[in-house]
Amino acid sequence: MNRVRDYEQTFARWMGASHGFAFWKGRVALYAILRGLGVGPGDEVILPGYTCVMDVNPIKYVGADPVYVDIEPATFNMNVSLLAEKITPRTKIIIAQHTYGYPCEMDAILKVAADHGVTVIEDCCLALGSKYKGRMVGTFGKAAYFSSQWNKPYTTGLGGMVTTDNPNLAERIEDLRRRHMCRPRAKEVFMLRAQLMVYRSLIYPRTTALAQQFFRYLTRKGLVVGSSSTCEFQPHIPDDFFKAASGVQARSGLRQLSRIEGNLAHRRRMAALYDRLLTERGWPTRGHDPQVADPVMVRYPVRITEKDRALSEAAQAGVELGSWFECPLHPIETPLAPYGYQQGICPEAEKASREVVNLPLHPRAGEKTVRRTVDFITKFTVAR
Ligand SMILES: Cc1ncc(COP(=O)(O)O)c(C=O)c1O
Repeated sequence: MNRVRDYEQTFARWMGASHGFAFWKGRVALYAILRGLGVGPGDEVILPGYTCVMDVNPIKYVGADPVYVDIEPATFNMNVSLLAEKITPRTKIIIAQHTYGYPCEMDAILKVAADHGVTVIEDCCLALGSKYKGRMVGTFGKAAYFSSQWNKPYTTGLGGMVTTDNPNLAERIEDLRRRHMCRPRAKEVFMLRAQLMVYRSLIYPRTTALAQQFFRYLTRKGLVVGSSSTCEFQPHIPDDFFKAASGVQARSGLRQLSRIEGNLAHRRRMAALYDRLLTERGWPTRGHDPQVADPVMVRYPVRITEKDRALSEAAQAGVELGSWFECPLHPIETPLAPYGYQQGICPEAEKASREVVNLPLHPRAGEKTVRRTVDFITKFTVAR
């Protein structure tokens, strides 16, 4: 069987979904869903104002308008009490983004959506394996999309996936792929394969900051396949955006899926260790009722008062500290006006952007790394 097909079916089976569609990136997966659902000019798509701009681009690419809802400070997810007031006759879609892995309040979101006849889709790019009321996220909405970019729950370098149980949507996505999708160029696939090999052998928590700087430099020089090109910081669709997944990504994805339970169990264990170590030092942690929210976190967020200083000292000390999201539509360079975001409309998201750094949970970050990271971060002042 075609390797990409095999990957799609294996992923869909693992998610308990009837259909899976792999793409070059997660943002392409969202674009396919929006096109498949017929979202277009004049429509509005609601999402949290605490996201990556690459998640907003597909909304603009189909000609729709993003509408931002502020977040709930404890979970970084959409504040559902603010959702109904954002709905207008133009609202077509609500994106439930499970930020960092915390599951959204799906019952409340689905209720508001049903009351107004709006479709819900789920952004699971940061939340593979998380459960809400015992059920896997990605199984609540009409469709879900996933990312396997470098920083995501598992990595195929770049990569995206759609899952859905809806046969009409699946047929429309299949049709779009047949008629409009382009193939990645041989050079891109070759470079991605080389990057994956380097990643597997050289990138560890102590080397991450240095490697990221070097990687950004190489991306600017066009010497590696970057996650985002400069033209993706404006809301205009690049020519070769709607791109298929390659065999290299599919092979890597199949390998990752074969060990996914170990990956998820590791993330749960390390998150519990952060909880315990931070609590011992008097830092607040977010308890959750596992009957309601059972997160598998992609990174462990903490709030501090001096984010910039912590990031620069971490890079010097070889401590892996993440800084997303740096602004409501990450990253900080994003010009917000073309995306319809005005400063002040999501105050909690803006505050979180100033305060949150995130700590590693991936399979290469073991107990020693977690302890070292906690020792480092607790030298700073927690923001409450
Ligand atoms: C919440 C969220 N959704 C979607 C995406 C897009 O994923 P990709 O980079 O695979 O296109 C990202 C980040 O890049 C993200 O952080």
